[in-house]
Amino acid sequence: MTDTATTAPETPKKTTLTVTIDGVAMEANPGELLIAAAERTGTYIPRFCWHPRMKEVGMCRMCLVEVSGPRGMSLQPACMQPCAEGMVVDTKSAMVKKAQDGVLEFLLVNHPLDCPVCDKGGECPLQDQTLTFGPGESRFVEEKRHNEKPIPISDLVLLDRERCILCDRCTRFSKEVAGDPLIHFINRGNTTEVNTFPDDPFASYFSGNVVQICPVGALTASPYRFAARPWDLDQVESTCTSCAVGCRVVVQSSGDEITRLQGVDSDPVNWGWLCDKGRFDFEAVSSPSRLSAPLVRAARGAAPEKVSWSAAMTRIATALRTYQPSEIGFIGGARLTNEDQYAYVRLAKQVLRTDNVDAQLADGLTPDAWLGFPKATINDLATAGAIVLLGPDIKEELPVLFLRLRDAAVTKKVPVVEFAAAPTGVSPYAAESVRYRPGEVALAVKAVMAAAAGSSAERQIGGVEADSINAAGAILAKAIVSGKKVVVLLGRASMAEPDRAFVEAALAVSAASSDVVVLPAMRRANLHGALDMGMAPGLLPGRVTHGEGGAWFAAHWGAGPSNPGLDTAAMLEAAAAGTIKALVLLGADPVADFVDRDLAERGLMGAELVVAIDTLPNASNTHAHVMLPAAGFGEKSGTTTNLEGRVTVLSSKVSAPGTARPDWMIATELASMLGTDFGYETVGDITDDIAATVPTHAGATRAELRRPANADGIVVPVPTEASTPSADAADPSVEENAEPRPPSVAAPKPLRVRAVDGVVPQPDSYSLRLITGRVLYDQGSIVQASSSLAKLARPASVRLHSGEIERHAMHPGDVIRVVSQTGELALTIEVDDHLPRGVAFVPWNLADRGANTLINVGELAADGITKVRLESGRS
Ligand code: SF4
Ligand code: SF4
Ligand code: FES
Repeated sequence: MTDTATTAPETPKKTTLTVTIDGVAMEANPGELLIAAAERTGTYIPRFCWHPRMKEVGMCRMCLVEVSGPRGMSLQPACMQPCAEGMVVDTKSAMVKKAQDGVLEFLLVNHPLDCPVCDKGGECPLQDQTLTFGPGESRFVEEKRHNEKPIPISDLVLLDRERCILCDRCTRFSKEVAGDPLIHFINRGNTTEVNTFPDDPFASYFSGNVVQICPVGALTASPYRFAARPWDLDQVESTCTSCAVGCRVVVQSSGDEITRLQGVDSDPVNWGWLCDKGRFDFEAVSSPSRLSAPLVRAARGAAPEKVSWSAAMTRIATALRTYQPSEIGFIGGARLTNEDQYAYVRLAKQVLRTDNVDAQLADGLTPDAWLGFPKATINDLATAGAIVLLGPDIKEELPVLFLRLRDAAVTKKVPVVEFAAAPTGVSPYAAESVRYRPGEVALAVKAVMAAAAGSSAERQIGGVEADSINAAGAILAKAIVSGKKVVVLLGRASMAEPDRAFVEAALAVSAASSDVVVLPAMRRANLHGALDMGMAPGLLPGRVTHGEGGAWFAAHWGAGPSNPGLDTAAMLEAAAAGTIKALVLLGADPVADFVDRDLAERGLMGAELVVAIDTLPNASNTHAHVMLPAAGFGEKSGTTTNLEGRVTVLSSKVSAPGTARPDWMIATELASMLGTDFGYETVGDITDDIAATVPTHAGATRAELRRPANADGIVVPVPTEASTPSADAADPSVEENAEPRPPSVAAPKPLRVRAVDGVVPQPDSYSLRLITGRVLYDQGSIVQASSSLAKLARPASVRLHSGEIERHAMHPGDVIRVVSQTGELALTIEVDDHLPRGVAFVPWNLADRGANTLINVGELAADGITKVRLESGRS
């Protein structure tokens, strides 16, 4: 008997189309626009209005080409034409040339041709395409249109109306991408122009993008206007480190000064977009207030004096030698490069044998929460069954992540369930906003997950109406059975509530399905890198505990600390009590950023030695006995890790001020003065050392990171043999004298989170629950050192529901005292009827003394909320 086929074998379906462009056959993807397919295969079709990240509109007609059809060849806009099988295209025919000449001649009728004084001159698509595709001369001799120029349409953007070619890019970006429809076409016909409405300035967090994508010089950025010409600029590609999204940028400089940042289209991350803080806070790099020489104080409170590096380093090394390991603590480091962090971890854990190292200032989440959940990528948002927002207002803290989430919600129709005590930038796009009472997030989430599992709520739980619980539960139930991922954006929604509440809430979601993945929504640029490098008590580089990685690192470094050290809160308590004697601040400002300002001040006052290594002065480093100037963004190279765990390259472009040095050099020299030679001569030596010793980073070598295929970075852990599960190096069954093997890092670790019931004590009727969150423009040292952004920080205020204002017999605009058990602030009342009754919202870092003046770590731990009272009059 012979085998016979019962059905004919299927001919594999062809998944691409064949299109002939200028006589050359090429493959195109179904649905791909002709303009994109042509460019991908090497034929550039000129364009003004088309942008690959926005919907096509066919406004400018610059992309006209001849396309075959049933009636022969005809002119078609290539940006509106999807490729079709057998399509024949001519981009260079006489007909096409005539169309291009005509389009350009019309576009230039009113264009002022002020190229010599236009910021866009030298990099202007209108200039370039007129030269390449346009007519030699114009037939129009009439007087051109004249408008007032330029008119500011916001604090950051200027408009020269007569340069505008009405391409609809800025208007589409604002509406489609940013969701801030603040710039429009106004008037009709010949008088059509782009503009804002008089009482509605272009106050968008993303306004710099329209300047970048405007194909002419109609929109210019005030920080760059007349600052440089394109031919003066030198540039490198790098990563924005103003938050943890890690947008790809080019850093441009002229005369050893950074003049501009432009977004680079990184498909997994920022799609070419930047937020205005990331785009314009480079001004802080050349701020006159930069620290540029080591400073020491003879005694606390004395004026700082400039000293040599050797005098400052000797003072630090001499003092550190006299302390026991447990008497030394390192706070901060979450904004440094991976290489800086690794060098500091070696200095602390290997050389000084202290585990008192914490990159977070008790304003984030426990390291367990970062390492214990299966991880999501930003791209997962677009394909998720649902997105659960359990964190801060990402429009304020992680703005380009907000753009990606908005795209997922609006374009891809992914339902977003938002858990937020107060409305956020995401609220308008949420399928359901679950408004819990501050402190009761875990209760609310558990109720929603119970509803998702079939137990509908019948009454209010955690301050959330039953209808809202059931609606959110229905959305999540559908997502869970869809087999798609459920992405939880997890962060610290309010510093006035403890982190454990949010982790507990995330655990409740993840218990519902193995498809739940977590994207940490934490703000500081390289917090992920800091935790990967071991900048947390109890952790060693590579996301391993002392027990898991101790033997491996002992083999590389010699012995390290064996007991878990203290976190920032415990270090500050210990310093206030005199048991920690030396505190080293690594680009950290605990007075402004630690959740409890009073404890931060007491801790810094209690330490015998405070060393601050930073780029700018701040409220904490005025307590420092020694200040070392560090190189900042654009002044040092290395790598950074974004919130997905994506390692990307940072490039140096300009010189650091004075004698400021990269942090890794400071750590390496201190180690050497204390008797340990790390053997690092360049930052690349550390990158390679990390790839060789840190189990998560095996494979993220300098050579790999430089490969064009890895331009978007490498997400760690890299799946290599070295990172596959292996016998634990600390396992007693491992043969004596055997070479230690890298510990396993492949699987998430079980979370060691103390379960909470989510019930918090009800405040008395005079008290309100405090909510505090960050805003993009605040009193932070980088924003305040950026002249264009500093003025955008709003005055300090307390936001209250109007009913609450009435109940207290107060009025909007009154300056009142907001009093907690630990401190008080004088703040102006602002009405916000989107807030629930019974809460007071104080932005984190706007008041002179910051919202952390009101927070007490003891009350947070005991009660799970922060209570405040409103009192009339200033203190
Ligand atoms: Fe296009 Fe620029 Fe005019 Fe906006 S201002 S419509 S981006 S030319
Ligand atoms: Fe920079 Fe973050 Fe803004 Fe991106 S979102 S440009 S990383 S600050
Ligand atoms: Fe095609 Fe504008 S680029 S019509």
